Amino acid sequence: MVSYRRTKRILVTGGAGFLGSHLCERLLGQGHEILCVDNFFTGTRRNVEHLLDNTRFELLRHDVTFPLYVEVDEIYNLACPASPVHYQFDPVQTTKTSVHGTINVLGLAKRVKAKALQASTSEVYGDPEMHPQAEHYWGRVNPIGPRSCYDEGKRCAETLFFDYHRQHGLPIKVARIFNTYGPRMHPDDGRVVSNFVVQALSNQDITIYGDGRQTRSFCYVDDLIQGLIALMETDSTVTGPINLGNPGEFTVRELAELVVELTGSRSEIVHKPLPQDDPRQRKPDIERAKRALDWHPTIELREGLVRTIEYFRTQIAA
Ligand SMILES: NC(=O)c1ccc[n+]([C@@H]2O[C@H](COP(=O)([O-])OP(=O)(O)OC[C@H]3O[C@@H](n4cnc5c(N)ncnc54)[C@H](O)[C@@H]3O)[C@@H](O)[C@H]2O)c1
Repeated sequence: MVSYRRTKRILVTGGAGFLGSHLCERLLGQGHEILCVDNFFTGTRRNVEHLLDNTRFELLRHDVTFPLYVEVDEIYNLACPASPVHYQFDPVQTTKTSVHGTINVLGLAKRVKAKALQASTSEVYGDPEMHPQAEHYWGRVNPIGPRSCYDEGKRCAETLFFDYHRQHGLPIKVARIFNTYGPRMHPDDGRVVSNFVVQALSNQDITIYGDGRQTRSFCYVDDLIQGLIALMETDSTVTGPINLGNPGEFTVRELAELVVELTGSRSEIVHKPLPQDDPRQRKPDIERAKRALDWHPTIELREGLVRTIEYFRTQIAA
């Protein structure tokens, strides 16, 4: 328990999603009061069901594209569908969530003098010419493609955060999150880890898009949450953007083979055409996070996958 004076009222938008639910859980564990706001587009009540009995936890169904009037000390803005199948389902709503949603969150932060943290993404780097991607790199993003609703929405959200900071002196933090995986990922979200694990556990073919030589980095959810909280706790001189992710780089083929090994699956690996604008390489440069937050990921891919596979096994059995 923390003393009353150190207890913060914290708003987590998108709190019933994959990352949001872990964040709510961790902040609640630190003794804070949590207001979890979600429109349940991709998140579910089930993700936070185990928190509902806690008197310091409140769940509110609300769409962040509409204003919200509450009293809080800190805001983590995570609301936004994160996987291509979900954000391309209603691309206009995706951009609205990032842009209108962020304006509403920042308006609220300004009114109640709260600190605001934006869950941005490595997708702001687009299909990068720079490898690994450091924060000073401005990115190579297609503004009119099928991924643009997400990438450009997130880029605009970063702009809004920095303009509120410059124009109104708002304390802000911007985290650029790289590929994160773990329990409570949506089983049908088409993201590579959940896809492979679900396919392997049901002994279906494992689909690799392209030749499988494209690389990805995979950060386990507990490491990521640790990084987000560490960033929020920095003093006002640290605004970010700060990359948070695991710099370990694996080809998609290596990931598929590891999942087959750890699940003991009989699945075959098959190939399908690469979708448009699929990035060839993704690897965070986390030097800034190491220096500013004294943070680095500690959970190896193999260990994180074992925990994730365990979660999906129970979900499939249920
Ligand atoms: N998981 C990753 O690898 C990753 C990587 C980079 C960035 N991010 C960012 O982190 C955040 C959380 O991602 P996630 O992986 O947990 O995805 P998620 O889809 O599980 O979570 C997003 C949550 O936001 C909610 N939401 C969507 N639109 C909303 C709206 N208009 N109003 C209120 N709630 C809304 C959804 O219902 C869901 O609960 C997102 O902003 C995402 O862009 C995630």
